[in-house]
Amino acid sequence: MQKDSTAKTILVAFLLCMVCSVLVSTAAVKLKSRQIENKKLDIKKNLLMATKLIDSTATKEVINETFKNVETKIVDLETGEFVTDVDVETFDAVKASKDPKRNVIIPSDKDLGKIKKRSKLEKVYFIKDGSQIAQIVLPVNGKGLWSTLYGFLALAPDTKTILGLGFYQHGETAGLGGEVDNPKWKAQWGGKVAFDNDWNPVVKVVKGSVIPSSTNAQHQVDGLSGATITSNGVTGLVNYWLGGHGFGPFLSKLRERGGN
Ligand SMILES: Cc1cc2nc3c(=O)[nH]c(=O)nc-3n(C[C@H](O)[C@H](O)[C@H](O)COP(=O)(O)O)c2cc1C
Repeated sequence: MQKDSTAKTILVAFLLCMVCSVLVSTAAVKLKSRQIENKKLDIKKNLLMATKLIDSTATKEVINETFKNVETKIVDLETGEFVTDVDVETFDAVKASKDPKRNVIIPSDKDLGKIKKRSKLEKVYFIKDGSQIAQIVLPVNGKGLWSTLYGFLALAPDTKTILGLGFYQHGETAGLGGEVDNPKWKAQWGGKVAFDNDWNPVVKVVKGSVIPSSTNAQHQVDGLSGATITSNGVTGLVNYWLGGHGFGPFLSKLRERGGN
């Protein structure tokens, strides 16, 4: 073969492609288990950040140690009762929400989070202080502008005072809808009251800033500037998951049982 021939150039390019694709595929396969482990750790971290038990600088060791205070249970959303015959470790509500045998279609008038269907069962997380419940953490999700946002809402034992909200996965635009991750914005959620006196969820991410003297200020959070669609998405998803088609029955059973 001639030194500068077309055939040689194509052969070299072909061999280079083959070597690179083998390297990339090997790396992808070898790192898969680590990626899954890191994703699980990131979910735990975001859950704990919603509870304010850790901050964003927490190490893997701190996250895993703090997570030992978290008791995870599975709830049947329709009845609000705990389910004990499903493995907490392996149950995945996002996967179940896509399985026709394990999901329910959300009636459009109730679908404030615009997710169309949800799993019949969901995980709930209890942060314990001795034998007492200190916090209840609920997984939440719903549509923003570009994506479904997945996160956690932490409630006080009274089931109505919000302690924190944070998202571990979304595809909103950085600087616009992506400001849901801004610590200053997230800090506003702490202390907000999620329900009115009749236990209807009434949280609202307003357009602009909350007027502190307004009677509804206790239920409201500032809007994300230039991102009203994501802001409305957050309003919808929080109210959906706190409502009668979401965790409403579970929260009301919890109140009946006096928080235990
Ligand atoms: C490239 C691009 C990305 C955008 N990303 C978002 C977003 O993530 N969330 C959002 O609500 N609006 C986003 N918007 C703006 C929306 O189209 C819409 O104008 C906005 O939500 C209206 O909010 P405002 O009334 O606060 O301006 C984006 C617009 C552009 C051009």
